[in-house]
Order: sequence, then structure tokens, then C-alpha cells
Amino acid sequence: MEPSQVTIIGSGLIGRSWAMVFAAGGFRVKLYDIAQEQLTTALENIRKQMQEMEKSGVLKGALSAEQQLALISVCTDLKAAVEGATFIQECTPENLELKKKIFGQLDVIVGDSVILSSSTSCLLPSKLFTGLKHVKQCIVSHPVNPPYFVPLVEIVPHPETDPSTTERTYALMKKIGQSPVKLNREIEGFVLNRLQYAVISEAWRLVGEGVISPTDLDLVMSDGLGMRYAFIGPLETMHLNAEGVSSYCERYAEGMKLVLNTFGPVPEFSGETVQKVNQALSEKIPVAPKALDARRKWRDECLTGLAKLKTQMKSD
Ligand code: NAI
Repeated sequence: MEPSQVTIIGSGLIGRSWAMVFAAGGFRVKLYDIAQEQLTTALENIRKQMQEMEKSGVLKGALSAEQQLALISVCTDLKAAVEGATFIQECTPENLELKKKIFGQLDVIVGDSVILSSSTSCLLPSKLFTGLKHVKQCIVSHPVNPPYFVPLVEIVPHPETDPSTTERTYALMKKIGQSPVKLNREIEGFVLNRLQYAVISEAWRLVGEGVISPTDLDLVMSDGLGMRYAFIGPLETMHLNAEGVSSYCERYAEGMKLVLNTFGPVPEFSGETVQKVNQALSEKIPVAPKALDARRKWRDECLTGLAKLKTQMKSD
């Protein structure tokens, strides 16, 4: 049987990663971009990454790198790109007007069954999709960078999204080995970034107030909280750190509230603290493409190792 086809709109960092994830899942992938040279670079980059991963035994899926590459084709004609697609994942720059324009274009050329999905990190579905003829088929599938190594996908419906669109998107993400979560309604920052910003803002206040150095602050996460958070979330942590959640609340609610009441206002993320954090981080990782890329490569290797470990340690 012919594998189903998905279309990726935009072949940058996230579009490439989605293309690889879908190809690993055995899907035919059409990668669309406005710039042919961008597509050429994307294909070269995908080939290189897949070959390297195959060599080191971490390529996803049952197919070889060559077989996966053969599933990916590129296109600069939108109509041709979406023809035959059952799922379209938009990955263009984070700009509301641009994305609205693209979904407007898609709205007039697609049929009634394809899913129109956006990778947006923070634009609300009601901003992106309101007024579209095919709004019932529209949804946000927000990945985490790099999606190839970090499987979470936040699925966020528009108020008018058909429940079957949510279910189909959820099932598709599962099928390609991602880890989808469903939001019941849209909210600024979705869930991942709300949690992330809560952590960043307290980190910023602690460093800004001189309680701890930037380097030590990062260690609190990478050698402390992060160790468990790769396996269990904050709520399960509560459950396990006492005799269940109720017992945790009985024991620790007052203490938590005491601490939480000392949290400061939303930081400005400007001025002296920026310099302080930037200086500490730049000493460790100079702000130069080579150094940043080397560190990103190391991070991805760590994430690959962690993904392997998580598979070994799998439990429900
Ligand atoms: P990027 O800048 O690397 O890639 C954007 C691509 O879109 C480029 O290839 C560009 O040529 C293409 N493009 C521009 N206008 C277009 C048009 N009219 N039609 C088709 N293609 C067009 O951006 P990146 O980082 O891949 O982000 C894409 C989306 O993914 C954004 O919405 C972003 O918020 C979201 N996202 C990004 C994450 C990240 O860490 N980079 C994480 C999760 C989501």
C-alpha cells in the first residue's frame, strides 16, 4: 500500500525535523518552501543528519536512511505540495500575519478531510484560524526543539476545531513515535512554555537578587530537579515524596505557600541581570556560531542517550 502523505510548509529548523520524524514513521513527505535554495539546504542537512544517525545507530524507525530520504520530496508550488496530503504541518516563521496569509491560501485549495496544523510556539488558535472555511480541520501541534529528539507535542484546538481533528492528530503523533498531550482549551504560552517561563522567571529573580550564581542556578536544574523530571512530572513527584498527593498537601501545603508568597513580580529581563547572566554563560559557551553549534550537538547527543535510556526504563 502507498504510504500516506504529509506536507510540511517551511523547511527551516522545525520543518526539517518534522520531515525526518514523519519519514521515520514511513510517511511520504512533501517539503514546501518559498525559496528553492532553502529546500536544497534542508535536504542536504536532512541527508547528513540521517546518515550520521544511522552510523551511530540512533536513526529512528524501521527504514534505512536511504529509504527514509527517498520518502522526502521538495516543492515550491503550494497547490502541488498539498495535493494528496492527509496532514499539513505549517512551520513558517513565528509571525501572525504571515501564518494567517498561509492558512488563508491553504483554506481555498484544500478539501474537507485534510488536517491543517501549525507548529506555532505561542500564537493562539483563535488568532490563527478564526474565519477560515476549514476551521474545524485546524489545530496547533506545538513541538519542542528539536522534535526529533524531544517527543512532546502540545495539541491545542481552536474553539471550533472538530473533536475528530484533535483525535486524528493525537493518533497520528502517537503513530510517528511522538508524545502528544491535549489541551482542552487554548491559553497563552500553552502549557510547556507556561511551566518553562515560571522556572525562568524565578531563576532570573534569584540570580538578579544575588542569591546564587548563574552557573550554580543551572546546576540546580541539570543535576537536581531535571534528573527526575526526565522521568516523572511535578505532580507525580508530590505523590511519591509523601504517601500520595493528599498526604503531600497535608504535610507541605503551608510550607509551599510560605515560599510562593515570597516570589517577586514578573522580571523585566533587561539591565544588569542580562549582563550578569550573559557574561557567565558566554564564559562557558562563547557566543560564536562554532561554539554554540558544538554545544547544541552535544545537547542533542545527550538527548539521544536520554531517549534510549527512557525506552529501556519504560513504564506506564
Ligand atoms: P526558521 O526560520 O528556521 O524556518 C522558517 C522557514 O519558513 C524558512 O525555511 C523560510 O524560508 C520558510 N518560509 C518563510 N515564508 C514562507 C512562506 N510564505 N511559505 C513557506 N515557507 C516560508 O523557523 P523555525 O525555527 O523552524 O520555526 C518555525 C515555526 O516553528 C515557528 O512558528 C516557531 O515558533 C515554531 N517552533 C520553533 C521552535 C524552535 O525552537 N525553533 C520550537 C517549537 C516551535
